[in-house]
Amino acid sequence: MELYIDTANVKEIKEISDWGVLSGVTTNPTLVAREGRDFLEVIKEICDIVDGPVSAEVISEDMPGMIQEGREKKNWHDNVVIKLPCTPAGIGACSVLEAEGIHCNVTLVFSAAQGFLAASAGATFVSPFVGRLDDSGTDGMQVVEDLAEIFELHGFNTRIIAASIRNPNHITAAALAGAHIATVPYSVIKKAILHPLTDKGLVSFKRDWEAAQQA
Ligand code: G3P
Repeated sequence: MELYIDTANVKEIKEISDWGVLSGVTTNPTLVAREGRDFLEVIKEICDIVDGPVSAEVISEDMPGMIQEGREKKNWHDNVVIKLPCTPAGIGACSVLEAEGIHCNVTLVFSAAQGFLAASAGATFVSPFVGRLDDSGTDGMQVVEDLAEIFELHGFNTRIIAASIRNPNHITAAALAGAHIATVPYSVIKKAILHPLTDKGLVSFKRDWEAAQQA
């Protein structure tokens, strides 16, 4: 499973990218709006930091608008992936754009049936929202597991991005459920790297080392 970061904050992306663990980036209108910056400028900056797929979401709600936006955004950078909502218009736009060789990420997926339709439209990526499903009392990771089984069973090449990841356990569970990618917020990546026993171990290593130097 590959790790993507789910943010439009270039400082966060740079920090985690420097660890050498990032394979891509996902953004959404909420995340871009939070930065208060020009969309194109942010995406170009992100593409300069991470050499991998960078999802940029369309704002249009109708199919012609999404197709036009997709074609325009693809010109921003070769690594841009067009993020489309899992609606009838989004699925239709996905079919058209993928036929033109423009990679799409179908987002806001909350059921395996939605994910199957996205894959049938030729989507390169499909993003089930694990955390939001958990919030509504449904097992979000089950959708990831079902999609992994369906894609394997029926030979779909669509890659599953486990999205709406809320804690480090979600990362592990996504990997075990067969997600190809987990897109993880900065705060969760930071939580995942930290462990009190690692810190405790470091303190004792240092103490023992320094004691031996003075002996
Ligand atoms: O990638 C989707 C993600 O941005 C949504 O996460 O935490 O807003 O449900 P969340």
